[in-house]
Amino acid sequence: MKDSDSITPVKVEDDMHRFKFKPTATVVLMSLAFASLLAGARVEAVAVDNGLARTPPMGWNSWNKFGCNVSEQLIKEIADAMVSSGMKTAGYQYVNIDDCWQVSRDASGKIVADPARFPNGIKGLADYVHSKGLRLGIYTDAGTMTCEKRPGSLDHEAQDAKTYAEWAVDYVKIDWCHTEGLDPRKQYEKFRDALAVCGRPIVFSICNWGRNQPWTWGPATGNLWRTTGDIQDKWASVLKILDNPSQQHPESAGPGAWNDPDMLEVGNGKMSDLEYRSHFSLWAIMAAPLIAGNDIRTMSQATKDILMNSEVIAIDQDAAGRQGTKIHAEGGLEVWSKPLKQKGATAVALFNRSDAAADITCKWSEVGLGAGKAKVRDLWAHADRGVVADGFKANVPSHGVVMLRVMVGK
Ligand code: GAL
Repeated sequence: MKDSDSITPVKVEDDMHRFKFKPTATVVLMSLAFASLLAGARVEAVAVDNGLARTPPMGWNSWNKFGCNVSEQLIKEIADAMVSSGMKTAGYQYVNIDDCWQVSRDASGKIVADPARFPNGIKGLADYVHSKGLRLGIYTDAGTMTCEKRPGSLDHEAQDAKTYAEWAVDYVKIDWCHTEGLDPRKQYEKFRDALAVCGRPIVFSICNWGRNQPWTWGPATGNLWRTTGDIQDKWASVLKILDNPSQQHPESAGPGAWNDPDMLEVGNGKMSDLEYRSHFSLWAIMAAPLIAGNDIRTMSQATKDILMNSEVIAIDQDAAGRQGTKIHAEGGLEVWSKPLKQKGATAVALFNRSDAAADITCKWSEVGLGAGKAKVRDLWAHADRGVVADGFKANVPSHGVVMLRVMVGK
């Protein structure tokens, strides 16, 4: 078989090629080999072609706020609130149950949902979530047990993938607790192959906390892969994730395949609204999955204004799928930028980590826009800032961000 029989190069960006292939192990390996031949040492973004997550997935997950306290009742109420709060209209699609929904396996090895907490089973819940125009996500672990010691999927990969498809599940997050002696790449490839033949398109979220460089094998394996340990509802945790050396691998991200710096803590109460705004803005600049982790049934107007800022969401969801990066940093004052699909357009975040308000300047030349004039839009003030030559300066509050959409021209 010639390479060209199974691999169609898909031009996504001038400087980036991705490869379309059938998601079988052999073809994936061939594609990877072919991609690395073309790419030399550079890691290329090669997306698993299940047609899903062409922009970073948006949704909600139970873990950050509710931990093990999950139930059918909670998930139904969250699905209702996704619609009534406007989250669904803003683009949030997946309602994801994290750890603790499962209790045992039956005689045939099939995974069993907690009958007291999920009286209508996962299929009943999926039907409800689908009736709201939303999608259902579920959670398992690649090892013998989940992190909360529920049954894991080791040696049940194919059976579990089939069960999820039978239950009409749309998204699966696969964790990495209790995996002593296992190789993450191999284990996650087993799930990829099982999901490819389970009969239903299912978004595949890899959660091994950035171990074994998932940004190198993740793109050909799943739709998103965690790059760091767990986020906490603390400013220091947001900074730790942004500074984690394993965090930035923009070359691996693109339609269908995303670095995942973990779910959002926006609205969970231990950071200021200004800090949540920065957290959300930086996640959008990084083209991160936007998976809310708060109680959306009771969220404040300030939280809604952050999670449903359509101008910032549009940056995250930009069709080019480019992950933004830090352009420069000086004494806690940072400039980040993300190239957008529209020619001459880029998103910029002026981010102040210091303890006092400060001026931050972004020069057009440093974000790839040349030295001429550019139109500036402030995405939190929802206001145009005119056509500005050379660059833009703003006074940014401590722990705050000014986020801009900049477009070359008059
Ligand atoms: C961690 C994971 C969290 C959450 C938790 C559940 O390993 O990173 O996001 O899923 O397990 O036990």
